[in-house]
Amino acid sequence: MTTERELIDLWFKFFEEHGFKRIEGLSIIPENDPTVLFTTAGMHPLVPYLLGEKHPAGNRICDVQRCIRTNDIDEVGDASHLTFFEMLGNWYLGDCPKEEMIKLSFEFLTSPKYLGIPKERLATTVFAGDETAPRDEVAYKAWKECGIENVFYLNKEHNWWALGGGVGPCGPDTEMFYDTGKPKCSENCSPACDCGKYLEIWNDVFMQYKVENAGEKAKKLDRPNIDTGMGLERTVAVLNGVSSIFDTGVLKQVIDFIGTKAQVKYTESESAKRSYRVITDHVRSAVFVLGDYRGVKPSNVGQGYILRRFIRRAVNCARNIGLDTKYFSNIIDIFVDRHGADYSDIKRNREYIKAEFNLEVEKFSKALDEGHKEFEKVISGIEKHKSFAALKGEVVENIISGKACFRLYDTFGFPFELTKELAKERGYDVDEEGFKKAFEEHQEKSRTASAGTFKGGLADNSYESAKLHTATHLIMAGLRKMFGNQVMQKGSNITPERLRIDFNLDHKMTPEEIETLEKFVNEKIAQEIPVSCEEMSVEQAKQSGAVGVFESKYGQVVKVYTIGDVSKEICGGPHAVNTKDLHHLKIVKEESSSSGIRRIKAILD
Ligand code: ALA
Repeated sequence: MTTERELIDLWFKFFEEHGFKRIEGLSIIPENDPTVLFTTAGMHPLVPYLLGEKHPAGNRICDVQRCIRTNDIDEVGDASHLTFFEMLGNWYLGDCPKEEMIKLSFEFLTSPKYLGIPKERLATTVFAGDETAPRDEVAYKAWKECGIENVFYLNKEHNWWALGGGVGPCGPDTEMFYDTGKPKCSENCSPACDCGKYLEIWNDVFMQYKVENAGEKAKKLDRPNIDTGMGLERTVAVLNGVSSIFDTGVLKQVIDFIGTKAQVKYTESESAKRSYRVITDHVRSAVFVLGDYRGVKPSNVGQGYILRRFIRRAVNCARNIGLDTKYFSNIIDIFVDRHGADYSDIKRNREYIKAEFNLEVEKFSKALDEGHKEFEKVISGIEKHKSFAALKGEVVENIISGKACFRLYDTFGFPFELTKELAKERGYDVDEEGFKKAFEEHQEKSRTASAGTFKGGLADNSYESAKLHTATHLIMAGLRKMFGNQVMQKGSNITPERLRIDFNLDHKMTPEEIETLEKFVNEKIAQEIPVSCEEMSVEQAKQSGAVGVFESKYGQVVKVYTIGDVSKEICGGPHAVNTKDLHHLKIVKEESSSSGIRRIKAILD
């Protein structure tokens, strides 16, 4: 049995032997990125470096990065999808030796010293070419030279990689698949279809392009890169010859644990299996979001909303298999035991995670009670309608409308299946088509809303963003001066138009305090202070009095940005050259972000 730990160790051994430097992965919640809620790929925290900044650890690096992806949330429950996973990554920054990377990938995958996968079991895909980038004959040839028989040319939909919002560094990729040995689903069976024959395990992206704003065409990057990502859980499954990621490691441990407590067995039905897997995946995602030092709590917006969904979906699934929700605490413990050594936030926050998780479970149970009451109202509404209609000699069918089902779902968190079940008990039908329609309309609305958040553009590395970034450092310095050094930044989000910064403070700031802070920042701007950057070890940074989250370090060497004697912070940059470029700061809002956390929005005018 190859364990997750063994694969991680092999990864670093291999890449360190080939001259790559190991760096630490970062938080699951991205900083200074208005486009996405979570870190979705290993390259995500590295975007500034992929766009040309110098990385303190050099131009060949590797890491393991915790990621959350929710775009496939409905696939969770099958054999290979997760919302939380660990991604093994390596990068060439400012350099794109494509053939070299393909040879390295081949060696790592097939060498008996490393993964030892027979090359006959591998298939790869390469970019077929379009108006932006040419057909990738170089990659094709490199795979053939390695002796890979099955190399497929696929189009942009399959072989072009960019972050979720479509903005940022991007490019054609070559993906590596494990052939599970299942028969072909058709003549044209390829890694492009989802019949389950091919399982993607690794992706090498040739990041030679960037998209500056959503919807714009990709432009060539001055400095190309290679970004790769291997799915830890999937590869471990392959190495152990099992067909599902839930049959290995900590995921299996949790499935087995649930099996000892639930009334319905894992293998009893496809639906039971799905419930076990969703609980396993979602509880782990919730552990990482709650445990993160940025302190996200369940709510109705942003990361808090996704967190709420993870927990509520887990509760629904627990209900499906007759699992008492008191066992969530044990599941949390299993994950903390497995991941705590790698992620100290998770370990330190073990009890906090359990408390917040269980609080949300309780809230949800209350909401479900409310939902039951609402359900009764819906039924009595229909009954009334029926008796009126009967007076007129008309007949009303026993059907709960799609809209009512959707309201129960959306407002009261009532799962559709539950509505259906209760309806059946009362001799009612539900309008399933109507529910789906209402659901899709809602999704369409949220898609449009979230498309708005992509507008700012992650890759907006423009000088406007750099200035706002410098302004957040000045604001933090002002806050610490006013309220003490226990005040720390808890989150930040910059769009080209404004900055947003979260910090811990035990009270709402008074108008006078806001004015004092604004004045402090504007004085520093007027003093025309140069901003300087130095690279040093984490220990030196600590000694120099730099503010920063030392545990989530950027690697052995970090960047420290200094603004005269006003501010010294560990930070990836980029920043304005001189405070005078900021011109003038205006705080437009001070509000609560969550309990004990305040939020300031400000603009430069
Ligand atoms: N960034 C690439 C991916 O996530 C490697 O697939």
